Amino acid sequence: MKIFLDSAELEHIERAKEYGILDGVTTNPSLIKKAVLKQQEQGQAVDMKDYLRRVLQAAGEAPVSLEVIGTNRNEMEKEGMFLYAQFNPIAENVFVKIPINPVLEPDAESHYEGVETIKALADRGIPVNCTLIFTPEQALLAAKAGAAMVSPFAGRLDDYLREENGLAFDKKDYFPSYGLEKNGEPLEDKGLVSGIDLVGQCVDILGRFGFACEVLAASIRNPRQVREAALVGAHIATLPFDVISELLIHPKTMEGMQGFTRDIVPEYAQLFRTS
Ligand code: G3P
Repeated sequence: MKIFLDSAELEHIERAKEYGILDGVTTNPSLIKKAVLKQQEQGQAVDMKDYLRRVLQAAGEAPVSLEVIGTNRNEMEKEGMFLYAQFNPIAENVFVKIPINPVLEPDAESHYEGVETIKALADRGIPVNCTLIFTPEQALLAAKAGAAMVSPFAGRLDDYLREENGLAFDKKDYFPSYGLEKNGEPLEDKGLVSGIDLVGQCVDILGRFGFACEVLAASIRNPRQVREAALVGAHIATLPFDVISELLIHPKTMEGMQGFTRDIVPEYAQLFRTS
């Protein structure tokens, strides 16, 4: 499974790159806002074109998803073409992120403008990461339209299952991939019992029909979700910077290190001094 960084913060991207584990980067308007506010707090004005140029260069050959902001096909298609024309030449690593359904209100005339935009961009050879996926059916339509990646939002589906059932939780709380029960009844949304179940069903369906579309597990909040995303066959998981760091921490690893360090005899230590 590839590991992407879910952050627009330059410092995070540079550090993850240095660690040697960075396969890609995902951004969205909320992550851009976070990065901009951080720069401004440090007294630095942000020139967005220059900032994104630095992000793309820092990622190097790793793909970087940049999201459109429009809410209809015309706007999204124009913005997608702009993002690709403007930024892909910098490091040849831009994916355009298009929401599966950009409508803001339920009574919209059409819910197909995301799918239409994916098709229009894919036909021009622009790689699309289709975002805000909450059902395998949305993933199927995105893949049929030509998306190169689909991003099911695992954590937010877990949030929804708990919110709809009046369960209190913190954002990073673990939600089991096999689901939870309330009053003896399984919590579910459209037959999905967890965010990881959503990811797994997307993987199964796209794999079964041979789509060349990768499933990118998004909205990942904790290390167990990373493991479970891998176990259900996600091609990619995009992780916030703190979750990447948490993957490496175990008290017994630290305890083991303390023991090994204590036990170093001078004869063994000398070996390294002469090397
Ligand atoms: O990858 C999508 C992500 O940025 C959303 O994460 O934690 O806000 O649901 P979250």
